[in-house]
Amino acid sequence: MVRSTITGAQWQAEAAVFMKRVLVTGAAGFIGTNFVRRALAKKPDWYIVAYDALTYAGNPANLVGLEDTGRFEFVHADICDPERVDAVFASPLWAVINFAAETHVDRSIMGAAEFVRTNVLGTQVLLERARRADLHRFVQVSTDEVYGSLGLKGRFTEESPLAPNSPYSASKAAADLLARSYYVTHGVPAVITRCSNNYGPYQFPEKVIPLFITNLLENRQVPLYGDGLNIRDWIHVQDHCDALLMVLERGVAGEVYNIGADNELTNRQLTLSILSELGKDESMIRFVKDRPGHDRRYAIDSSKIRRELNWRPRIDFESGLRATIRWYIEHESWWRAIKSGAYRHYYERQYGVA
Ligand code: NAD
Ligand code: DAU
Repeated sequence: MVRSTITGAQWQAEAAVFMKRVLVTGAAGFIGTNFVRRALAKKPDWYIVAYDALTYAGNPANLVGLEDTGRFEFVHADICDPERVDAVFASPLWAVINFAAETHVDRSIMGAAEFVRTNVLGTQVLLERARRADLHRFVQVSTDEVYGSLGLKGRFTEESPLAPNSPYSASKAAADLLARSYYVTHGVPAVITRCSNNYGPYQFPEKVIPLFITNLLENRQVPLYGDGLNIRDWIHVQDHCDALLMVLERGVAGEVYNIGADNELTNRQLTLSILSELGKDESMIRFVKDRPGHDRRYAIDSSKIRRELNWRPRIDFESGLRATIRWYIEHESWWRAIKSGAYRHYYERQYGVA
């Protein structure tokens, strides 16, 4: 009998050479975490390089244990740092998917500099390095907010003009245009996706759904902006991630794909659903001052990705919201650590950053 002298770690390292190495930036955030988990589960021949600067929104606890798959590594670095980006590209990558961004509209109203730095400069640094790589795809994860705001009728199509209203959406629109220009000028195989509002597990509790769920679990009121009649078009994060997997594999370079689940709700309707699921009444709503420049309505026409890539959303809003509420109930320590700021200590211990 021949005794194998190869160790588990060596075997993993050798197997990794034959895998599709995919760079996922912003991997410790809400959608990045869900995407990495979904990709590891559904794509056995993918090796994930999870890259994240761990800003306030990036939580390494989301990715704990994934190294055990042997198909995952974490790089703590900034997408604006060309040397760190270079180092990751030093081993051949099959694809890049860029989630890394500053994402909260209210924060962009308080200060836009970080949004321009990460969302615009960071994307350009990645695209610039991608020019010299032999990539299958570069997926730029964008948002329906680049199209601006709708009246009561109509939906955003891929041909709708870009008309961003917040510094956040303006920085995302700028990144989209850079991705487009690197495709046209330099042949980077960039694809842009524009998705509507996501909800689901691991969403940072500053965004409306997890903020409202966790406030109510703490028996605190929920702050509803303005008249509560602004409309958002909701999609479960798992459906978004499945669409992104398809775009990454089969999307046509140079194209834009809208992603949405045809699920428009006013913020008031959404709030009433959450209240009812948690057995609370309307006295828990506190109407507060409106967000400046608050987009009135988003609604996405996703017929192109349905037609061309045969993607469909699978999760209806009622069961998705119920499952999401259950997730926050079952993961109380996850959101309590964030709300109390304790998760920062985890960063310090783990990564030496405050
Ligand atoms: P998030 O705020 O939860 O996560 C963003 C992640 O990016 C964090 O882990 C953060 O640490 C990381 N990051 C920030 N700056 C970085 C930098 N300079 N270098 C490296 N990493 C950095 O955001 P999310 O909701 O998961 O959104 C992910 C992407 O999807 C964003 O590009 C966003 O514009 C887009 N998007 C979000 C939604 C939504 O509803 N949440 C909808 C459509 C599109
Ligand atoms: O449409 C996609 C976008 O969805 C993403 O590109 C953004 O990254 C993501 O943050 C999200 O943007 P919104 O501004 O739509 O999400 P937010 O959760 O901040 O707000 C949703 C709606 O709820 C919006 O109309 C404002 C309102 N709201 C929000 C908060 C945080 C409230 O009424 N009260 C609140 O406390």
